[in-house]
Amino acid sequence: MPDRRPLIGGNWKMNTTRESAEALATAVVKGLAADVAETCDVALFPPFPYLQVVRQCVGSAPVQVGGQDVSGHEEGAFTGQTSARMLLDLGCTMTLVGHSERRHGLNESDEVLNRKVRMALASGLDVMLCVGETLEEREAGHSEQVVAKQVSAGLEGVTKADLERLSIAYEPVWAIGTGRTAAPEDAQSMHARIRADLENQYDARSATSVRIVYGGSVKPANADSILAQPDVDGGLIGGASLDAGGFLDIVRAAASVEAS
Ligand code: 13P
Repeated sequence: MPDRRPLIGGNWKMNTTRESAEALATAVVKGLAADVAETCDVALFPPFPYLQVVRQCVGSAPVQVGGQDVSGHEEGAFTGQTSARMLLDLGCTMTLVGHSERRHGLNESDEVLNRKVRMALASGLDVMLCVGETLEEREAGHSEQVVAKQVSAGLEGVTKADLERLSIAYEPVWAIGTGRTAAPEDAQSMHARIRADLENQYDARSATSVRIVYGGSVKPANADSILAQPDVDGGLIGGASLDAGGFLDIVRAAASVEAS
């Protein structure tokens, strides 16, 4: 992989309790071997109420903690929203933006998501922009156009310099939480397409540097073949990240692909 460290993120979604979040984060930190952490970046995305407790469990370990979402506004009368500044205040370094459960479940538009991306980057957070087509879009043969539009609209106004703090998660909606994963070659071809589009929108150097991770039913049993693809730079793990042992197996798989 050309100069791209793999990144494995655990998106806990709306799962865990205070106690189980603490136990899960502690188990991840304890089980993360130093040599693996040297090769692979690890990030945890707990629910907002447990960010602080997870951040405390992580301490100085090489594990980033991030929000599952962030507001596109700086501060003010935005009931229920969480600002980038608040995430930074808690010691978070990253945020997800545009997860399909927000795009489709909460109707967040490309414009809203672009605002979030720009606000988070301007505030100093790293961003993982999630994109992916639905089953209907895939069956209609529109996957590539849909994803290309989500990427270009999501990144509108993002400078080359800020792009260095952004990664993309390709998560086909039909593969999320369904047990169906994209075939490794299909993931590879979509990732390569996203990279080619980034080259058009930016330049070859920037496109080569951006990490593009895959998400959608990644488990220890299928991680190796997906992570081995040359344009797959890691994974965003949902269900399997709720088990520290399985999550760490996926982290190790990413580190060993990188080392090989
Ligand atoms: P699953 O791994 O549970 O399919 O979820 C993927 C995902 O949505 C990660 O953000």
